[in-house]
Amino acid sequence: MKAIEENTSLPNSSERTDPEPRILEQGKELFRLSDTFESGSFSSYNLFSKSLLFLEDRPNLKLQAFRFADLFPSLNSLSLIARYIRLYFVETPTELPKWMVGLLAISLTNPLTGSMVALSARVGIKFVAKFFILGRTFDSERSKILSRYKNGICATIDILGEAVLSEKEAERYSKEYLLLLDEISKDKELSKIRERVFINEPVGNVSVKCSSLYSQLDPLAHHSSVQNLKEKLRPILSSAVSKNIFINLDMEQYETKEILLDTALQIFSEPEFADYPHFGLVIQAYLRSSQSDLHRIIEYSKKRKYPLTIRLVKGAYWEYEMIQAAQKGWEAPVFLKKSDTDKNYEECISLLLKSYPHIRPAFASHNIRSLSCAFVRAKEFSVPNDFFEVQMLYGMGDSYKKAIRHLGISVREYSPIGEVIPGMAYLVRRLLENSTNEGFLKNINANKKDRESLLILENRS
Ligand code: 2OP
Repeated sequence: MKAIEENTSLPNSSERTDPEPRILEQGKELFRLSDTFESGSFSSYNLFSKSLLFLEDRPNLKLQAFRFADLFPSLNSLSLIARYIRLYFVETPTELPKWMVGLLAISLTNPLTGSMVALSARVGIKFVAKFFILGRTFDSERSKILSRYKNGICATIDILGEAVLSEKEAERYSKEYLLLLDEISKDKELSKIRERVFINEPVGNVSVKCSSLYSQLDPLAHHSSVQNLKEKLRPILSSAVSKNIFINLDMEQYETKEILLDTALQIFSEPEFADYPHFGLVIQAYLRSSQSDLHRIIEYSKKRKYPLTIRLVKGAYWEYEMIQAAQKGWEAPVFLKKSDTDKNYEECISLLLKSYPHIRPAFASHNIRSLSCAFVRAKEFSVPNDFFEVQMLYGMGDSYKKAIRHLGISVREYSPIGEVIPGMAYLVRRLLENSTNEGFLKNINANKKDRESLLILENRS
């Protein structure tokens, strides 16, 4: 990879004209293209996503369903599952029809039928997990990964699990990450496909959740949290460097953000890592602090030999942040209105592109308006298509992924592997964003007329 050379040709003159008409055109083109890639056949995901929308106008049922899913990992017997189904869906009033509550109540009184209800819930959760989780291990799922690479979609692999409670558990995750790096680097077929289909792609790409590597992350013990997290990360980063694998440090809850940022910027400066081209971080545009964090990272990255990658996301912990802030009596660190996050996302897009070539942007969104804005702005700032990429989640928006590839822009799927139980928090975040008509589903369920309105940014200043 080439080290950074200063680019002097930006921004070009189109920066001064209103980009809005071009963003709308770009969005329409993406919708049009995605239609051509829609399989047209029965899609179980589409059916499932429509059924999730059933929860949208049923707030009590939705709340109980998510409380149940949250608790599910700790329910280790069918009788316990049955007890909580009774507590959450029979004894607590929800919008479930009366006949259904009655049927549930009768079934749960009998141990045999109660177990059947509990078993169905377990099977149901596993069924839903399949939409969003690639599978159990890299080795068991490599054929899926290879076939996606062959179709031009590359991956960043994440091991499910976060917020560990003990160092023993953290140790296990460290070992799993090291094993994953080994497995990726030894995969000859993957490297053959990668060399054929992708230019400049390192041997692999792994996303790490720092809260799975250290159990004592504590904002009140900032210094020791940073020091200890660096200890945990060093072997993983060393192994990645020796194998030429990209490492992205994921962002999680706001309370650990400063720890993660400080850890990243310190460890990436250590002699062993300072000149490595394949490190990435995340900026969550729903955070009010996102632009100042981004400025800090840009200034840092300017001093590096190679650019850092920034995955720009909207943020997946909004509900959690709101509940935390309300409980603690703090001002929420996130924007309260989705439209403010969308607007901030676009401002971050411009900041990222203006910093070319010091930051490599990865635009992570399923929102066609946001992505169209990124593509149009990239042209304005003369940032070549091969300098940035789009990231989307495994299981969501396949036809959009193909449409974006068709435009000559790389697409990377965030591909989680692991067991359902440690993956439950991940799954609940996906269910949350798929059960509101504010997010991704607006794109896929919109009819052609509505789509144009989705391309308009509310709150434009
Ligand atoms: C999450 O874990 C994709 O990192 C994001 O929800």
